[in-house]
Amino acid sequence: MEAAEPVGAETLAPGVVEPLLRGRFGRPYRYQQRVESTQALLAADDPEGAVAACEEQTAGRGRLGRSWEAPFGTAILVSVLLRPPAERRAQELSLVGGVATALAAERALGLSSQIKWPNDVLVDRRKVAGVLAEARDGAVLLGIGLNVNQKREELPPSGMPPAASLRTLDSVVRDRAPLLAELLEALEIAYEHWREGGLDALYTELGPRDFLRNRRITVGDETGTAIAIDRSGRLEVEVAGERRFVESGEVRYER
Ligand code: BTN
Repeated sequence: MEAAEPVGAETLAPGVVEPLLRGRFGRPYRYQQRVESTQALLAADDPEGAVAACEEQTAGRGRLGRSWEAPFGTAILVSVLLRPPAERRAQELSLVGGVATALAAERALGLSSQIKWPNDVLVDRRKVAGVLAEARDGAVLLGIGLNVNQKREELPPSGMPPAASLRTLDSVVRDRAPLLAELLEALEIAYEHWREGGLDALYTELGPRDFLRNRRITVGDETGTAIAIDRSGRLEVEVAGERRFVESGEVRYER
């Protein structure tokens, strides 16, 4: 059994978050103060929209086998269980999560955000959030890490793009619970649009936030100019006068 929370502590505990939930995402809402990874708190037989959240992960996972770290009580670390229909490409869910997170970050900050294909959310060219989609027994666990109240020295020191939190961007310390409720609502809306109409239905939000568009990039061993994220979630790149469509990978870019 976990120790009781200190009275008045800023928290993502169910008693604070559940009254703020506005849709079906977050029901059930699983919470532990400390957990290996929120991705491990949900089971394949949970209903769609089940959510896991915590204050700290002891083995938080990023893309491509990387770790994801944030000090206790400073970030939104959340996983959502989704059951995408068979006719949709589940790989597109990172972008669906990216759109929802970008919108929630923008509403909190009053600043515009960008999406760096395939899963980073940037503000002012710095990464404030990452999205991880993992398949689990026919379902998808969509994990989102959003940096909220970390101080500069609490963020990963290096990285491209460099990391930021909402706090390092505007000096405001926020309650995370309303932000989590906003994020879950934005995700539910984006997901429903995607279920109905694929990325086409989200392109008004996605297209203008495409960070890599027109940048010189390297992906794998090829260098070229990013054209755009296409409506199937691939990155369209021009390499030596030819169009290529990249399905997945790590992109490096020039400034
Ligand atoms: C990335 O940018 O590499 C993706 C990071 C995803 C991190 C989140 S935090 C909540 C969920 N649980 C995890 O272990 N990872 C995701």
